[in-house]
Amino acid sequence: MAKRPFVAGNWKMHGTRAELGQVTHVSIETETIPEVLVALCVPATLITRAVSASPGFLIGAQDVHHEAKGAFTGSVSVKMVKDAGAKLTIVGHSERREMLGETDAQVRAKAELAIDEGLKTILCVGESDKVRETGQALNVVAQQLEASLPDRVTAPIHLSIAYEPIWAIGTGKVPSTGDIGAMHGRIRQVLEQRYGDGAASIRILYGGSVKGSNAKEIFAIDGVDGALVGGASLEADDFMPIVHAAAAGVKA
Ligand code: 13P
Repeated sequence: MAKRPFVAGNWKMHGTRAELGQVTHVSIETETIPEVLVALCVPATLITRAVSASPGFLIGAQDVHHEAKGAFTGSVSVKMVKDAGAKLTIVGHSERREMLGETDAQVRAKAELAIDEGLKTILCVGESDKVRETGQALNVVAQQLEASLPDRVTAPIHLSIAYEPIWAIGTGKVPSTGDIGAMHGRIRQVLEQRYGDGAASIRILYGGSVKGSNAKEIFAIDGVDGALVGGASLEADDFMPIVHAAAAGVKA
């Protein structure tokens, strides 16, 4: 991997105080692996506790609202997650796009607000199985990305893209290495068209059924700069082999 790899866990709607030991375990072990940037995106309710339990470790939120503040009952703003101690947020996860109808324009607004506030931001894109079957995955994801990318990127260094095919999330299915490489190449093209030289600092992560058993193969693909990990991030014993695989990829 050309860049320092980035491996981020997305706990989704899992985790209470009882699971904070997993955060501590990951944070302590990653101190010995400086060649990989590691983060855990925990539920909003756990951010403050996770930050206290693992000083210096990168804790993220899983979403933020697309408005800076206002009458949005139950929602959490960029400033709020930052105040809680998050240094990172995911935006545009397919579970929010698909189940909650979030639009590309909203995802773009979230990313702009987050980056303006200095949060690292992982912006997710990915195609459905139907789109993959029609052979249009590259075009559809490129269009989704173009519409979701922030126009104003004061600091592209804060942005990562996660390519997460919807049909690979939580299913144990993973695209072929050729398909992942082709998609990451296409995403890189879109980033270069939009940001020119600024695109060089943007990492492109793969997400969807990444495990300790397949991480090495995925990290060896040209254009893969890390991973966004769901199920296998919940337990440190499942997550750390993925981080170690990323570190091994740097040395290879
Ligand atoms: P899984 O690793 O459980 O497939 O989830 C991927 C994901 O959605 C991460 O955001």
